[in-house]
Amino acid sequence: MSVSLPESIRIAQLPTPVHALQRWNAHTGKTRIYLKRDDLTGVLLSGNKVRKLEFVVKDALNQKADVLITCGGLQSNHARTTASLAARLGLQCHLVLKGTPAGTPTGNYFLDTVLGANMTFITAEQYASANMEIMTEIAEAYRGKGSRAYVIAEGASCALGAFGYAKAIEEIKKQSIDLNVNFDAIICATGSGGTQAGLILGTKLYNYPVPIYGINICDDADYFTKKINDILSSVRGEFLPNFAFTDDDIRIIDGYVGEGYGKARPEELQLLQAFARTEGIALEPVYTGKALYGLMEELKHGRFARMKNILFIHTGGIFGLFPYANQFA
Ligand SMILES: Cc1ncc(COP(=O)(O)O)c(C=O)c1O
Repeated sequence: MSVSLPESIRIAQLPTPVHALQRWNAHTGKTRIYLKRDDLTGVLLSGNKVRKLEFVVKDALNQKADVLITCGGLQSNHARTTASLAARLGLQCHLVLKGTPAGTPTGNYFLDTVLGANMTFITAEQYASANMEIMTEIAEAYRGKGSRAYVIAEGASCALGAFGYAKAIEEIKKQSIDLNVNFDAIICATGSGGTQAGLILGTKLYNYPVPIYGINICDDADYFTKKINDILSSVRGEFLPNFAFTDDDIRIIDGYVGEGYGKARPEELQLLQAFARTEGIALEPVYTGKALYGLMEELKHGRFARMKNILFIHTGGIFGLFPYANQFA
């Protein structure tokens, strides 16, 4: 079926591979986990963000923007991906980051400095109450200097960005045929909702009725049900008037935020270390590590007992591991 999507740039290395976790699956009972290697999308190991930005940045280019402005935590993968993409496209980048840098720069924040992004640091309270206003003010200041600034929502989790993961469903559907494996569920880490929203959109657009589950790594199920509903409603409002979904399509597995966003418990670190030592693949404690921890707990408690094959999306984020080096020690 041919599906008409908004325009996008082509910059990610796609399709990303899918493979079974040959050795790890010894711990997963009758359910096999397959990994979709979106950690390998390229653009400085950008993980899931680049799929969304392919659509959003195309819109920025269409509007003749020469500065990309976005926001995130100090270690935001999305912010660093935007900085990397901006550099590659010859645009300026301005990041509004939550937190105060201390000590030697590391991880994504270090890369932001290497990539030459301009940065504004704000407090968690400012971020929660006014990050959009702050980005808009910065955009105005660039306009005052004759530049055209384009503001990208947190995580590029907006209607346009959702098409990035909708398109990934087309890829997954084909890979399922090529591998001769029927996936009973697709699971991802949910942090700002755009990846999960896009996957849900894709299941409808490409007639691939596989349930999508997001394991939230911050906030709670109510927050993400609303957030994802908002993104999908904007898709309908802005692009696809006939697109139908209900809240039942939005499956959030809550209960694995642990100590809070970006805070790692010893059991989560132990799991990601065991995973690295079994599969040779590194997860990080903020998103993919927490999500895999959640999935393994759910499997232990029998939630997915009747499912044979689960596709877990490795959404990347490797540089987010480095700031935790001391906790591993
Ligand atoms: C590595 C990684 N995985 C998963 C997510 C969650 O994706 P989303 O923000 O689209 O919910 C993010 C960003 O928030 C991320 O950086």
